[in-house]
Amino acid sequence: MSLNSRIPKFYSFSQEERRNIIASMFNFNEQDLKYLQDQEINDSVFEVMIENTIGKIPFPIGIATNFKINGKDYLIPMVIEESSVVAAASHAAKIARKKGGFTAEYSGSIVIGQIQLLTSEPFEAVKQIISSNKKKIIEIANSTNEFLVKLGGGAKDIEIRRVKGDLREYFILHLIVDTKDAMGANAVNTMLEKLQPFIESIVDCKVLLRILSNYAIKRIVKVKATFDKELLGGDEVVENILFAYDFAKHDVFRAVTHNKGIMNGITAVMLATGNDTRAIEAGAHAYASKDGNYSSLSKFEKDENGDLVGYLELPLSVGIVGGAIHVHPTYKTLLKILNVSTAEELAIVAGSVGLAQNLAAIRALASEGIQAGHMSLHARNLAVSIGAKGEEMEKVASKLIELKEITYDKALEILKKIRK
Ligand code: MEV
Repeated sequence: MSLNSRIPKFYSFSQEERRNIIASMFNFNEQDLKYLQDQEINDSVFEVMIENTIGKIPFPIGIATNFKINGKDYLIPMVIEESSVVAAASHAAKIARKKGGFTAEYSGSIVIGQIQLLTSEPFEAVKQIISSNKKKIIEIANSTNEFLVKLGGGAKDIEIRRVKGDLREYFILHLIVDTKDAMGANAVNTMLEKLQPFIESIVDCKVLLRILSNYAIKRIVKVKATFDKELLGGDEVVENILFAYDFAKHDVFRAVTHNKGIMNGITAVMLATGNDTRAIEAGAHAYASKDGNYSSLSKFEKDENGDLVGYLELPLSVGIVGGAIHVHPTYKTLLKILNVSTAEELAIVAGSVGLAQNLAAIRALASEGIQAGHMSLHARNLAVSIGAKGEEMEKVASKLIELKEITYDKALEILKKIRK
């Protein structure tokens, strides 16, 4: 049976009830349930993930509901420390759902690996030698990963560029690799290092850096969704969202924050699936400057019905195999919930969450403001941070909300009164 990502009032259940709803939808075993609660994960897992491990820090896993992407429903695990993000994504997905949800496409898992050549030979001559050895270069690269080649991936092409530095000029060989369902950093870096002796044997040069590029312009996700004007709050809200977008398009100070809102969604999905959030953030922000000025990664316009159409385009280097995914068991459990079968599908889902997140943020900013949505969780956070225990927490939080004064001092004052 196909999944329905509409779970009305999911937020109103207890944490345990929510976990059980998800568990029954995805046929979880006892082990999966334990992994969700960070139980039974052996210290040795963390010992092999990084060096000098002294412990672990759990983060909340939230489930974004209501997503329909390319006709398929998804419940999306998000890992994030910030309140309101999961609720905002779910709300925007509900609005998009009315007009069919998100449509998205991915250009493929095509990685660019870079080899830096230092030489005094002329560029055209170097280019000619390298080009005429293309077949051999690809063969050597692919000899490092027969498994990937068997899957239809591997090194496919080369490009040669020149980069003028302050110190000298460099010739840069790009190795173009299809990494299929892996993010591919290890696979590509291994290929690049293996190529060094061969490159130095055909060109009179010194090979210096051999590393993939996180400017993943051949791994682009494109997402589109139509947001119903009535559900957004009417014509004026649509107009105001367009002004908000226009502001981000033309002002770097605003664009960075606007794009941060997009990455709130994408990074949370990446953290939930064991992906490299820094690679994705770096690539996304560089892409925001691709036309010469740092600008909005998303675009909004009004269609002939007055509804708002949102677009998002950015590079996403994602994987569903390899790296930390196989080491930490919770990633596998969360990937079960996400129910994606390829890296392409993960990229499409993450891109859609990015657009949803962005729409939710600018809709709130262009109407009631961002603080209203933050209120209840923020009030609870504050109550906990001043030491409220058990029932005190709810009492302090509801009083803060009632007074519309969610401040540290007020929280302390209320707690003191309760304890008297
Ligand atoms: C907060 O984490 C994200 C926002 O600042 C994004 C935005 O301003 O568009 C609300």
